[in-house]
Amino acid sequence: MSIILAIESSCDDTSAAVLRDDTLLSNVIASQKVHEQYGGVVPELASRAHQQNIIPVVDGAIREAGILKEDIDAVAFTRGPGLMGSLMVGVSFAKSFGQALGKPLIEVNHLQAHVLSHFIRKPENPGCPEFPFICLLVSGGHTQILLLHSHFDMEILGQTIDDAAGEAIDKAAKIMDLGYPGGPVIDRLAQEGNPDAYHFATPQIPGYNYSFSGIKTSFLYFLRDRLKEDPDFIEKHKADLCASIQKTIVGFLLKKVERAAIDHHVRQVAIAGGVSANSLLRSELQRICDKHHWKAFIPPFKFCTDNAAMVGIAGYFKYLKGEFADISLPPYTR
Ligand code: KG4
Ligand code: ZN
Repeated sequence: MSIILAIESSCDDTSAAVLRDDTLLSNVIASQKVHEQYGGVVPELASRAHQQNIIPVVDGAIREAGILKEDIDAVAFTRGPGLMGSLMVGVSFAKSFGQALGKPLIEVNHLQAHVLSHFIRKPENPGCPEFPFICLLVSGGHTQILLLHSHFDMEILGQTIDDAAGEAIDKAAKIMDLGYPGGPVIDRLAQEGNPDAYHFATPQIPGYNYSFSGIKTSFLYFLRDRLKEDPDFIEKHKADLCASIQKTIVGFLLKKVERAAIDHHVRQVAIAGGVSANSLLRSELQRICDKHHWKAFIPPFKFCTDNAAMVGIAGYFKYLKGEFADISLPPYTR
């Protein structure tokens, strides 16, 4: 039996979690509201907010888990990729805390953690993916189709050559002045819109790779032309615009995932990362999997966006292998 304290601070969420083996005991997240007024994450403000949040968040996770500091067997932390100033807060805290307790450290890759969140034990739904399976990792910074051979053997089948899917969604929201982050707002407004109202072309990219910068530009030019004719165009057609751009991006994402699963004879498909909270992506993945009699793995909302629970489960698998980190390891941004 192992108790792992996990720390995540790669971007703008400060989070700490406690796991007993693969069972989650607590997962505390402090989201930073300060960035909303700037329309994106301001790195300098993010690291300051992590500095303010880290101790109360870790304290809360330990108390909520009902354990004592002395019960902790290892401290897992996100080493990268992420923003350097943000990572440094979590990494330095984890090192000092581990050192003070005399417990080993475990370094975790943020992207692997997103994918491994599917292995956190869920009493209501004990099933987790079996190898090999495909995972679409879609966040604000990454878009990849991965083929998992084992927990840490993740083959990249394809990835974006420019913007990430979440970035494209956030930029579309910004063009419409919907605030930051735009993903959840687009998702909500799209519920009342017609997804076939407007058509935005998707690029021809070979293999399982993606490109989102063209979609964003065609959305921008389309709106610029319409606004010349009617300055209230966005306001009047907001829901249809959200539904249409969402359908374009989700359709593009899943077309390649479906192809990858067919080509690799894989019958289990998962999604992970912030954009996996998107309701259309979730329902469409389920529809495609039902059509092929594949099994879909859709994470609970609390594990889609950044959280320390996923860092904890990745840390647990490394703990089992005895893979500990040296105290001198620096964070990495990419
Ligand atoms: O994984 P995450 O929390 O942070 C990164 O590692 O990037 O992902 C954040 C991204 C943002 O682009 C946000 O707009 C998007 O996830 N997102 C969504 C939804 N919820 C969050 N995108 C579409 N629909 C959502 N419901
Ligand atoms: Zn993330």
